[in-house]
Amino acid sequence: KKKFTIADFQKYKNEGKKFSYVTAYDYTTASIVDESDCEVILVGDSLAMIMLGRDTTVGVTLDDMIHHIKPVVLGAPNTFVVGDMPFGSYNASIEQAINSCSRILMETNCDCIKLEGGVDYAPTINALVKAGIPVMGHIGLTPQTATSLGGFKVQGGTPESARQLIEDAKAIEEAGAFSIVLECVPTVVGKALAEEIKIPILGIGAGKYVDCQVLVTQDLLNMYGDFKPKFVKHFANIRQEMVNGLNKFHEETVNGTFPSEEYSFNKEVKISKL
Ligand code: KIV
Ligand code: NA
Repeated sequence: KKKFTIADFQKYKNEGKKFSYVTAYDYTTASIVDESDCEVILVGDSLAMIMLGRDTTVGVTLDDMIHHIKPVVLGAPNTFVVGDMPFGSYNASIEQAINSCSRILMETNCDCIKLEGGVDYAPTINALVKAGIPVMGHIGLTPQTATSLGGFKVQGGTPESARQLIEDAKAIEEAGAFSIVLECVPTVVGKALAEEIKIPILGIGAGKYVDCQVLVTQDLLNMYGDFKPKFVKHFANIRQEMVNGLNKFHEETVNGTFPSEEYSFNKEVKISKL
C-alpha cells in the first residue's frame, strides 16, 4: 500500500475517484486499517465516547489526543493520519491554536490536524496554514459544539442554513485548508458543497455525492454497542465475534479443555518434595 498524500486528496477529487477515511485510536486497530485499502485514518476526539465511555467529545485534552495519536502513527506507516484538535485547545486565540497544533504534529508525527468550525475559524485556519500546518476543516454537525446546535441532529436542513454551510466551506477553502469534513447534512447539501467547493468534501452522514466517505471504525464494524446513527452501516459484526471468542475461552477454561498440550510447555522436570 502506498501512503496517501495531501496532493492525492485533490488529485482524487479532480479525477472523480472516491476514497475512504476511518478512525483508529490505538496501535492494533491502526495496524488493521493500515493492512486494509482505506486511505486515511482519523484519530478523532470521538475517542472520548468510543474509547473512554463518555457521552460527549468535550473533555478530552491535548495530552489525551497525543497519547492516542502516537500509537496510531506507529501502527499505520502506510496510511495518512489526521490528528483531531480537542475542544479548548484552539478556540482561545490564534497563538493557542498554533501552539497546540504544533505540539500535535511534533510530538506524534501525524500528517495533518483537523479542527471544527466555519467562517469564524477561517482566520485561525489561515494563520495555521501560514505557519506551515496542514489543516482539515470540519463543518455541519460539529460534536464539540453540538449543545449550541441543539443536539446531535441533521444540519443544513433549511435554505438559510444550507447557504451558511456553503459560506463556511468557502471561507475555510480560502483560508487554505486542503479538505473539509462535512457531518450529518441532507444528501443535496453534500452534493452542493462537493460541486461548489474545489477542495475535497469528506462526508459522514452527508450522502453519496461527496468526495470521500468517513465513518468511525468501531461503528462500521459494529463494535461499539447499541447506539447507531442513521448514517452508520454495519459492514461486519465484530462485537458479536469478540463475545463469541471470549465465551469459547470461558467455556474451555471451565471444562478444562484449554490449555491442551499444544498450548503448554511440556518439558519434564523432576521436582523434589519440600
Ligand atoms: O472525532 C471524530 O471521530 C470525528 C469524525 C466524526 C469526523 O471528528
Ligand atoms: Na472529532
